[in-house]
Amino acid sequence: MILGVGTDLANIDRIAGVLERHGDRFRNRVFTETEQHKAERRKDVAGTYAKRWAAKEACSKALGTGLRMGISWKDMAVSNLRTGQPVMQVTGWAANRLAEMTPEGHIAVIHVSLTDDHPWAQAFVVIEANPAT
Ligand SMILES: CC(C)(COP(=O)(O)OP(=O)(O)OC[C@H]1O[C@@H](n2cnc3c(N)ncnc32)[C@H](O)[C@@H]1OP(=O)(O)O)[C@@H](O)C(=O)NCCC(=O)NCCS
Repeated sequence: MILGVGTDLANIDRIAGVLERHGDRFRNRVFTETEQHKAERRKDVAGTYAKRWAAKEACSKALGTGLRMGISWKDMAVSNLRTGQPVMQVTGWAANRLAEMTPEGHIAVIHVSLTDDHPWAQAFVVIEANPAT
């Protein structure tokens, strides 16, 4: 069964501006080491960050919380499989929220899809629960 869906569109130029103005403070507050490593090696640094920003917003919507003050952005993080497919990991408050919304006897799976076409970066997140058996 589907537990939640979320979507977000992020402006890459806006993210580039924030990166320019706030640099490491922004990077370290919002993005995990894995996310930073991926983005900083890319030609399109801001686009890579913008996709991950959109993924976090979309995930917070799928979790039904939205982005509240004080929540840790790093508790919703994107990594990539060897094929390039993105995977969303949740920790801390986001993992707790996921556990709360998952019916007993079920295991939750988070699906994420990312795309970008300058100036836009987009993310979709679907949270599914499957019987544990
Ligand atoms: C997956 C693919 C369709 C992406 O299309 P694109 O137009 O280049 O890029 P988009 O802007 O639409 O999407 C990029 C995002 O697609 C996602 N993506 C990449 N590979 C993926 C895959 N195998 N499955 C699902 N999503 C994938 C990633 O999240 C990527 O963003 P990120 O690298 O910042 O995380 C294209 O790269 C492709 O056909 N890849 C398969 C062949 C290949 O090149 N393989 C190399 C790795 S073995």
